[in-house]
Amino acid sequence: MEIINRRQRMASLARKLRRENKTIGFVPTLGALHEGHLALVKEARQMSDVVIVSIFVNPAQFNQSADFKNYPRDLTSDAAYLAEYQVDYIFAPEEKEIYGENFSTYVYIEGLSETLEGASRRGHFRGVATVVTILFNMIRPDFAFFGQKDAQQIVVIKRLTEDLGFDTEIIVAPIVREESGLALSSRNQRLSSEERQKASIIYQALREAKIAVRDGERNVARLAEIVRRKISSEPLAQIDYISLVDNETLAPVDKIGEHAVLFAVAVWFGNVRLIDNVVLNRRQ
Ligand code: PAF
Repeated sequence: MEIINRRQRMASLARKLRRENKTIGFVPTLGALHEGHLALVKEARQMSDVVIVSIFVNPAQFNQSADFKNYPRDLTSDAAYLAEYQVDYIFAPEEKEIYGENFSTYVYIEGLSETLEGASRRGHFRGVATVVTILFNMIRPDFAFFGQKDAQQIVVIKRLTEDLGFDTEIIVAPIVREESGLALSSRNQRLSSEERQKASIIYQALREAKIAVRDGERNVARLAEIVRRKISSEPLAQIDYISLVDNETLAPVDKIGEHAVLFAVAVWFGNVRLIDNVVLNRRQ
């Protein structure tokens, strides 16, 4: 496994791999790797000849500088973790490699960037879309792997891949959960042990909604109410949003029909904001 820091070196290596007809599987990350990332890496390993993982804490997608500053960074431990999973290359650039002097070109996906997470984290998806475009352009992967936990990010990235004509297939891996049901996230480390235990209420609530759909409930307002009531029963939880939207367009829906519906929630526990989701449709 080689760690690459330079953008030019990453691009020329990717060109060489393509000339050799090797398929490239790419897993972009912010580092602070956990089992959720490793599930993506394992999938990439199975599907591709060469696996590249990027580790870059992307300043453009953090809307609060304290959050960016406090984001856990430990390349040595991340690299040790990845070596066990036969990753071929880690791309770990410094900020100036990605955002050079006078950098001023951003990618913005209209209509998908300002709802849900975008409403709570202004500018977040502009930052994500910009860095993913730079990375895709440099590596030109055959497959790129993302976790379902960041459901809106997937919608945004699929849109940009299609709109900008990248020849990259977006592979989505299911949410990996702790035993309690809490979705894995690098933010979980910042919860107290009580908060971490209580935060499993989020998934319990989403499961109740899923069961209600299975039992015939189609009304979105009533499903949202099931989840709101359950999460509000936990005094440590502060709901940021509960949204049911079309899983492709992110447009609000009023009933569960043929199209997949994304049921997404964001909940504060102390100063940690957690997100989770389930995808529903009437064939549940
Ligand atoms: O999901 C993430 O870890 C980040 O948003 C990504 C896709 C690596 C872009 O910085």
